[in-house]
Amino acid sequence: MTIFFAFDVYGTLIDTAGVTDALKEQVGSRAAEFAAAWRDKQLEYSFRRALMQNYVDFSVCTRQALEYTARVFRITLEPPAQERLLALYRTLPTFPDVAPGLAQLRQSSLRLFAFSNGHPADLESLLQTAGIRPFFEDVVSLYPARTFKPNPAAYAYFHRAAQTGGSETWLISSNPFDVIGAISAGMKAAWVQRSPAAIFDPWEIAPTATITSLLELGQIFGGS
Ligand code: LAC
Repeated sequence: MTIFFAFDVYGTLIDTAGVTDALKEQVGSRAAEFAAAWRDKQLEYSFRRALMQNYVDFSVCTRQALEYTARVFRITLEPPAQERLLALYRTLPTFPDVAPGLAQLRQSSLRLFAFSNGHPADLESLLQTAGIRPFFEDVVSLYPARTFKPNPAAYAYFHRAAQTGGSETWLISSNPFDVIGAISAGMKAAWVQRSPAAIFDPWEIAPTATITSLLELGQIFGGS
């Protein structure tokens, strides 16, 4: 049986906390707190823009969220420092389990795609730099759909772009909002609990599976 996998990118494959070291120059010991606030604001902006039907490229959400977070932390980010941080966002590292986990799945008959809010060029840059682009059959960016997750149209777009043709389709994501969005839109979804402190939203929808590493997918789906 063919099974499709849609891997979320930011926070699932790619560690958005990877900007923390660079932020230490700007905010010292508050770097981790700044990185988390920046990420939360970036997502909030994407949710609001999807709801308002006021689409901009995801990198604009990232940039505007950085400006907002700098104001909250009362720091002045000069344009070169801002550009450096945004450039880093296009070359963030993967979590350590990602390459071995994908390699295991690649050896089975599963169909692997990356699926993200990100702009196609940013996604290619991220996945190539991290050395994991070859694991994916294709990269499905929501850029042509002009909306963001968790709009149900985002998940419908994945089915069309990957031509799933009614086959079983799993979203693999560390973002609870993404897991809930995918299940609501008829997919199955594995929540990757990236830290013991990560909390799944206490809604009426639970993940189809919860894992702490992509290596567990090989066990569930019989990758060799
Ligand atoms: C993405 C965001 C949701 O990669 O993390 O689509």
